[in-house]
Amino acid sequence: MTQDDKKKAAANSALQYIQQNSIVGVGTGSTVVHFINALASIKHDIVGAVSSSEDSTKRLKALGIEVFDLNSVDNLDVYVDGADEITKHKHMIKGGGAALTREKIIAAVAKKFVCIIDDSKQVPVLGDFALPVEVIPMARSYVARELLKLGGDPVYRQGITTDNGNVILDVHNLKILNPVELEKQINGIVGVVTNGLFAHRGADVVLVGTDSGVTTIE
Ligand code: 5RP
Repeated sequence: MTQDDKKKAAANSALQYIQQNSIVGVGTGSTVVHFINALASIKHDIVGAVSSSEDSTKRLKALGIEVFDLNSVDNLDVYVDGADEITKHKHMIKGGGAALTREKIIAAVAKKFVCIIDDSKQVPVLGDFALPVEVIPMARSYVARELLKLGGDPVYRQGITTDNGNVILDVHNLKILNPVELEKQINGIVGVVTNGLFAHRGADVVLVGTDSGVTTIE
């Protein structure tokens, strides 16, 4: 099985969590593209979706799935999204696709976060994948200096503006032993919009595509 086959298997398996007549929270990334395609196959059974990025919104609409503004949605049962790294505690690094802020907002609203990954994303400790931090443009250098003090090596992601009009610093060389604390610490730096640690609100269910099928971790 290729990595993409595993992503697709995990994405298809997430359909079992989608309830009739519901609005579905939809993440961003290559694994989520498979999920959006799967969701289209049951589009007449759902009301629509809320989306974490302009890219996912475009794909959902192209497949005839209505996209709602999160402000008009009182209740969200399920949010489905991928991850760049995940531990056995269901703490994640996300934001490889620069959509971390909207992803974190929808994850906060949703009752259940269903994480869909291939098995290469499972790690014992977070940090080999550089941690994305969304930053207000004028604060970029200040935030980079503060991140250096925390022991990381921030690198400006050139040529990328987020859907919110901000920039991304990718923080390398962090060995993240306490993700809940680091998430809070980085979010406390003035000028940071949010960072890609999803530890305070981690995943609830992880669907892992492997060579021998999809494993569910609850
Ligand atoms: C985007 C994300 C994605 O969920 C993460 O980057 C995983 O992407 P992929 O499914 O392409 O491996 O956080 O901001």
